[in-house]
Amino acid sequence: MSTPYGPDDIAALQEQAKRHMWLHFTRMSSYADGDVPVIVRGSGQYVYDQHGKRYLDGLAGLFVSQIGHGRTEVAEAGARQASELAYFPLWSYAHPRAIELAERLAGLAPGDLSRVFFTTSGSEAVESAWKLAKQYFKVIGQPARYKVISRDIAYHGTSLGALAITGLAGIKEPFEPLPPGGVRVPNTNFYRAPSFAAADEATFGRWAADEIERAILREGPESVAAVFLEPVQNSGGCFPPPPGYFERVREICDTYGVLLVSDEVICAFGRLGYYFGSQRYGYQPDIITFAKGVTSGYAPLGGMMVSDRLMEPFSTGTASFLHGVTFAGHPVSCAVALANLDVFEKEDLLGHVRAGEAAFRATLEKLTDLPIVGEVRGAGYFYGIELVKDKATRETFDDAESERLLRGFLSPELFEAGLVCRADDRGDPVIQLSPPLTCTQEHFDEMEQILRDVLTRAWARL
Ligand SMILES: Cc1ncc(COP(=O)(O)O)c(C=O)c1O
Repeated sequence: MSTPYGPDDIAALQEQAKRHMWLHFTRMSSYADGDVPVIVRGSGQYVYDQHGKRYLDGLAGLFVSQIGHGRTEVAEAGARQASELAYFPLWSYAHPRAIELAERLAGLAPGDLSRVFFTTSGSEAVESAWKLAKQYFKVIGQPARYKVISRDIAYHGTSLGALAITGLAGIKEPFEPLPPGGVRVPNTNFYRAPSFAAADEATFGRWAADEIERAILREGPESVAAVFLEPVQNSGGCFPPPPGYFERVREICDTYGVLLVSDEVICAFGRLGYYFGSQRYGYQPDIITFAKGVTSGYAPLGGMMVSDRLMEPFSTGTASFLHGVTFAGHPVSCAVALANLDVFEKEDLLGHVRAGEAAFRATLEKLTDLPIVGEVRGAGYFYGIELVKDKATRETFDDAESERLLRGFLSPELFEAGLVCRADDRGDPVIQLSPPLTCTQEHFDEMEQILRDVLTRAWARL
């Protein structure tokens, strides 16, 4: 594969990256003796580094590139919009692409989620949903409601409000004290279900949902504003909801007047074979937060879809939602999102995922013959592979082993072998896969073969 980067360019990029870049969630020291990986271009399901080496993008960048890379029609839609109107704020103005996109998203979203509040990212979307819940309850005369319930190990973003909702102790601790009100409940990791609920998924689901009710009662229902849940929880390695879980959660939220926020920053836009993950599992949220796949990453955009009911107190008199950011609903991002959705329609990407997901699962499940693979779980084009030390007992790795295995071996070896994916130990160690929605059997096979080779070598080193 040709590359415009000669040896001098490559050396300069390395030197400048090491001198000036500060990469996110990255131990910068790990590049002291090695190269910073530099990805220079993408095409379809693959990305290429500065040497021209090809990688299968098994994570869609970061759960983003639904339609794959290098789509000129989407890029050109952004360029046309930049020439016509590059920027105007959504602070008391609107512009045509934001209007068209809001109307289109309202048509795709479940039930009465007809109001779109745009942001630029997922963290801002989550932050906005919490702020809206708080202000909404103040406006309707329930000012004591400010708390938010979310699940253990769940990731909901990094800004301080979103971080307070996030359930990962390790990434919160340096920033304590966080905004008050974050309350944690168990997630839906059936593989690690407590023994009294381990025999049957429906029993486990009922227990996990009822834990939300117990938390609401413990905190005082009059103080709880919202429950934030992903359709399939990413962090921890793809925990799908057990049967009946969301039905029971909806019932609990209705009983106590608590808002149900479906955080679909990953699970929307085809990741689970539907425009919204809540549609796959048949529940009606009060708010959906989204980002990532709405543009497939051709420009940044996020937002929340809000029920007409929540908008109602803000629709008359002097009331307004006192929140906004400069680049929310950027015209270029909205034009790109519309072109992205055109690709979804033209290529029936939802149908493609629904038709392909069984084959994706079956291909990954071949890996369960390896002693290190405890479980393969997920839905749609979104899978986690849990790694264990002992399959029979499900014993996991201790911190030192995890460090050696994931950071020391798996992450670099998988990348070296040509697969972008994520070896994550924020819960029990897992490998996460979330490829472009255009992937077919040849890509599933490529992922399986690379994983088989690298996991086999990992096991041999243990
Ligand atoms: C469920 C969920 N919510 C929120 C976020 C935060 O999104 P962003 O990184 O765009 O701020 C993420 C990011 O991965 C996410 O997965």
